Amino acid sequence: MDIDTSVPHPARRYNYWLGGKDHFAADRESGDAIARAFPIVVELARANRAFLRRAVTFLSEQGVRQFLDIGTGLPAPDNTHEVAQRIAPDARVVYVDNDPIVMTHARALLQGDPRGRTAYLEADLRDPEAILGHPALKETLDLTRPVALLLVAVLHFVHDDEQVAAVVRRLRDALPSGSYLVLTHGTMDFSSPEGIRAYEQMFARGGTDVRARSRSMIETYLTGLEIVEPGIVRVSDWRAEDRPEDRPVSDNLGIYSVVARKP
Ligand SMILES: C[S@@+](CC[C@H](N)C(=O)[O-])C[C@H]1O[C@@H](n2cnc3c(N)ncnc32)[C@H](O)[C@@H]1O
Repeated sequence: MDIDTSVPHPARRYNYWLGGKDHFAADRESGDAIARAFPIVVELARANRAFLRRAVTFLSEQGVRQFLDIGTGLPAPDNTHEVAQRIAPDARVVYVDNDPIVMTHARALLQGDPRGRTAYLEADLRDPEAILGHPALKETLDLTRPVALLLVAVLHFVHDDEQVAAVVRRLRDALPSGSYLVLTHGTMDFSSPEGIRAYEQMFARGGTDVRARSRSMIETYLTGLEIVEPGIVRVSDWRAEDRPEDRPVSDNLGIYSVVARKP
């Protein structure tokens, strides 16, 4: 596949903010320009990634051994299979992304523990049947046993509210009792007017357009699930290990996080 490295790419830019290795000069320049307009973006990306690690650790400690990670992103420190297989080497992970660049890197770099299993499939979240019916998923995950469905910093790229609700419902329905939903999502709920302006400027500088959603909208994805403590909270606060004063101050765009169990 041809990759044009002179054009900034959202996944490579995110990888740059996370301190990963898969980015080029155009991604770094564009990432720096966005961070000048919207300074908290780097902290938010890192806080989101740190949540992913804490949530996968928590679920692995609860005995979950299967993960369906949709919206994988480029490999960065603490990928889902690394965190899960450190705790349980037999953990199985299916990664899904709709970006061919992400999938090329993922296949090359994300080598799982041979005692477990790691698979990658290129599919769009908006087509849950393609994900659920994919041979790689069927070979890797046993959908009669609990699965953690990770929708971490991905739903907000889909702008159609009804489509998101339908997709989450379909994916949830495919999983048995004892499964978990792990979600992070951009929100304006904490935004000041200056924060909103900075957020808009980010898009003017080529940032990927995100559909921020309110807490009440996010709650509709969780109907009927048991929400794990501490509930729907800012991403840096979910079972945080650091001191409150060391966490990013979300005075503009925030990210909600939640983990919920299917009864
Ligand atoms: C911000 S990254 C999140 C990466 C990782 N989940 C994390 O939290 O660190 C979002 C990823 O979602 C992918 N993505 C965006 N829209 C998607 C869609 N409709 N279907 C599948 N993946 C999508 C992008 O390609 C990107 O790799």
